[in-house]
Amino acid sequence: MVRDLVLKNRSYRRFYQEVAVERETCRELVDLARLSASGSNLQPLKFILSCEPEQNARIFACLGWAAYLKDWPGPAEGERPSAYIVILGDKEIAQSFGVNPGIAAQSILLGATEKGLGGCMIGSIKKPQLAQALDIPSQFEILLVLAIGKPRETVVLEPVGTDGDIKYWRDANQVHHVPKRSLDEIIIG
Ligand SMILES: Cc1cc2nc3c(=O)[nH]c(=O)nc-3n(C[C@H](O)[C@H](O)[C@H](O)COP(=O)(O)O)c2cc1C
Repeated sequence: MVRDLVLKNRSYRRFYQEVAVERETCRELVDLARLSASGSNLQPLKFILSCEPEQNARIFACLGWAAYLKDWPGPAEGERPSAYIVILGDKEIAQSFGVNPGIAAQSILLGATEKGLGGCMIGSIKKPQLAQALDIPSQFEILLVLAIGKPRETVVLEPVGTDGDIKYWRDANQVHHVPKRSLDEIIIG
């Protein structure tokens, strides 16, 4: 069921790094993005797949993780993603990319979840550094990075408390808690 898949599709930031994600698997995931909706059907998105440790390390160095977890600098060696999918906008096809990368990202991560994998959308990117690290031509705008791997953490959804705080947090057992607003709060008419 879609609801079950959406519930399981959390943002995971710690992984079994030793469990490889094959390039073919990433290709299958990008195929889900290819088949998804695209504004004016321009299909301006391009993708870079990274499944090798050296390239993964270069990408990792450009990313920001879980800004609300002030004491956590991001996944340690051994619990980092096994693969990345970098979503680019092709400026020869469109000047702006709107919600297209979000739609592509959600299709890819739902597909990853169905395969027993998990991931995280990363918008906090040192873009000039990543462009240099991957030798990305100026024709392409870096839009989003998807981290993918076999999740090694438990993520629990919570109702937003009376204080209204939406910041995610980790408990003493390293379980990651994510407050979600209620349906009644978000449907305003
Ligand atoms: C557009 C977008 C950008 C995001 N960028 C980051 C990021 O740079 N770093 C990070 O750790 N998480 C990032 N996230 C993940 C969010 O923090 C996460 O979706 C949120 O905490 C809710 O958790 P959930 O995805 O499990 O529902 C991003 C999510 C979205 C949709």
